[in-house]
Amino acid sequence: MTTEDGDLRDLPTHTPGPAELADLELLLNGAFHPLTGFLGAVDSATVAAAGRLADGTPWPVPVTLTVPEDLVKEERLVLTDPEGVPLAVMRAAEAWQSPGELPDPQGDAAAAGWRVAGPVTPLSAPEHGAFRSLRLPPEAVRAELGGATTLAVATRTPLHRRHLGQVRRLAEKLAARVLILPLLGEGHHDSLVRAVLSVRRELPPGTLVVPVPLAERPGRDLLLSAHVAAAYGATHLFTPSFTAADEEAAPLTLAEPEPWAYDESLEVWRPTSKIDPDHVREEPTEEELAGLLHRGEPIPDWYTTPAVAEELQRAHPPRHGRGVTVFFTGLSGSGKSTIARGLADALVERGGRTVTLLDGDVVRRMLSAGLTFSREDRDLNIRRIGFVAAEITRHGGVAICAPIAPYARTRAEVRRMVTAAGDFVLVHVSTPLEECERRDRKGLYAKARAGIIPEFTGISDPYEAPEDADLTIDTSRLSQEDAVARVFEYLAEGGWVREV
Ligand code: ADX
Repeated sequence: MTTEDGDLRDLPTHTPGPAELADLELLLNGAFHPLTGFLGAVDSATVAAAGRLADGTPWPVPVTLTVPEDLVKEERLVLTDPEGVPLAVMRAAEAWQSPGELPDPQGDAAAAGWRVAGPVTPLSAPEHGAFRSLRLPPEAVRAELGGATTLAVATRTPLHRRHLGQVRRLAEKLAARVLILPLLGEGHHDSLVRAVLSVRRELPPGTLVVPVPLAERPGRDLLLSAHVAAAYGATHLFTPSFTAADEEAAPLTLAEPEPWAYDESLEVWRPTSKIDPDHVREEPTEEELAGLLHRGEPIPDWYTTPAVAEELQRAHPPRHGRGVTVFFTGLSGSGKSTIARGLADALVERGGRTVTLLDGDVVRRMLSAGLTFSREDRDLNIRRIGFVAAEITRHGGVAICAPIAPYARTRAEVRRMVTAAGDFVLVHVSTPLEECERRDRKGLYAKARAGIIPEFTGISDPYEAPEDADLTIDTSRLSQEDAVARVFEYLAEGGWVREV
């Protein structure tokens, strides 16, 4: 790997987070035209305030790169994928510190610190990922479209029968080619692409499907997709999955679909204007659809095609077959381990689920042997537990974790890792410190008070009580059996354990 600038091997490397890697791909392939690199402080501020770069060019969202502090002085960086494959070299023209109000691409506000800005140049094209062959660069798609009027359909959800009717009608009215852009954010990528491919037959001949890795930008998703769709050569945009945009700022025409509904008397989807209002059938709401999936009930054929229904069911299996992590957090001696063990036993006795218990003390003897109780090591310990729990969850198992996990930010990180693979239930074992200390079964509190054990949670180290617990249990008020029963009931009511 050499360039006229010298040997890239000597440059420091950095692996951006998943959302930043998605941005990097679009910066490199031209989908973020006119951007050619990550933004600096001034551009980010004008974009956030006025939807324009500092030179006045319309651009809807800050596209920024966070780096650890030790990299801010570097002039050039090699950006790699998570396996370490170099993707791009970046000339770091500016290092800056976020003023704090910018949305952090990793959703990690506390880590929002140093960012570097500057142009990126491709090294090797990304090779991996399902449906890679469909992920054509904008240039290739524009060449294929050859300047035709093109209706882009940017979507984060599968296309149901109503959307298909609306897209067909729009394409006909505009005499447009159709370009479907499944937007890949976090989780269920391949499922969305398969669901979109499965309805291609229902769309006009020549419809193109090009998956685009685009991290979600709540509130700005529509405008950003409009910019991306324009870069791919689209002239019009329709999107079933989000609304609200400043039409003035869109670089192409936001197509207004005709209202479309299911006519019960004729058993067809057609323009709402042509249907007797008494015959219009209500579509299921998002919550109703989610409920059908949780309970494993069929999705009606009049609403979506069987292939799309099957994809949805595979991506969202009924909860009794879905992986779930039950994550207990609380002080040492609060009763986490005992409840966790009781829950694991109860689940095994009930049968029908595979259960793995990741107890705090046990993990520290195995997976995290050698780690201390410094903030960094505690975080690493919790991340390891989260990683394993997410894998168990992905494979449809039940992971029961019972570490102290004193930091809210790290717990939030675990929640994110796990929910990308399945469900996450946070149980706060809120037994008060006085009670834990009174019990002091391991004699650790006495040692901590005497200063023999430093950095002891609750005594000389912080515990951030969760504000996002799904369940709170205080074992000074509830017996062990009742505590286990409470969690078990929660899982049964939510559908994760099948009622007998
Ligand atoms: S965590 O903070 O990283 O989540 P973890 O649950 O793995 O902690 O380990 C906590 C257990 O380690 C406690 O139940 C206690 O037995 C033991 N321990 C030893 N030193 C400490 C300490 N300084 N703070 C808290 N727990 C400690």
